[in-house]
Amino acid sequence: MNDDAINRQPAALSAILSEADALGFTMASEAKVGALLAALAASKPGGRFLELGTGTGHGTAWLLSGMDSTSRLDTVDSDANVVAAAKRHLGADKRVTFHVVDGAAFIRQAPPDAFDFIYADAWPGKFSHLDDTLALLRPGGIYLIDDLLPQPNWPPGHESKLPVLIAALEQRADFVTVRLAWASGVMIAVRRDGSVLQRVPASPATMF
Ligand SMILES: C[S@@+](CC[C@H](N)C(=O)[O-])C[C@H]1O[C@@H](n2cnc3c(N)ncnc32)[C@H](O)[C@@H]1O
Repeated sequence: MNDDAINRQPAALSAILSEADALGFTMASEAKVGALLAALAASKPGGRFLELGTGTGHGTAWLLSGMDSTSRLDTVDSDANVVAAAKRHLGADKRVTFHVVDGAAFIRQAPPDAFDFIYADAWPGKFSHLDDTLALLRPGGIYLIDDLLPQPNWPPGHESKLPVLIAALEQRADFVTVRLAWASGVMIAVRRDGSVLQRVPASPATMF
């Protein structure tokens, strides 16, 4: 098996990638991450989905392609320009709501146990506000992050933040975690069914 072969992709994907190129947006997720997002999205019929970091809509398109007709996706980005691009290609899909707002503000106002799936692809929800974000997941809910393997666009010093983030997830008794050397490097944390959310002491990952 050649796991580089992604033989099915969302209809809007080529146009989204062309638009990302035109805008000089270099932070789009990889197709392999997208395919994983779509497969996991299909495991949550009627699910409530959250994407932190819409970008130009690459991950959004993949999530929508896996979601059923009764699922709903909230996607959040603080950059109105990239969200406008995503909206141009995906805005007709009534299952998605675009929020142009700071991710931390969105996380703070969202009710606990609101989501079945969170793709945390912005700073808030990953390197800050991690506990607050995990608290938004229902039991059985999936938290997914990528870009955990060294990337050419990382700013100096970024790599030292990764072990802290991974340790913060792996120390939680209320989540089952797995590391995947897939695409840019993925980690999945699933909230244990019936778990009471663990209050963990503030760690460097939650203080950034
Ligand atoms: C890695 S990109 C997202 C890529 C997208 N999920 C995809 O699949 O192509 C990160 C995004 O986070 C957004 N961002 C950065 N800081 C943010 C913040 N504080 N709140 C919300 N979004 C933020 C950036 O504008 C950027 O579009």
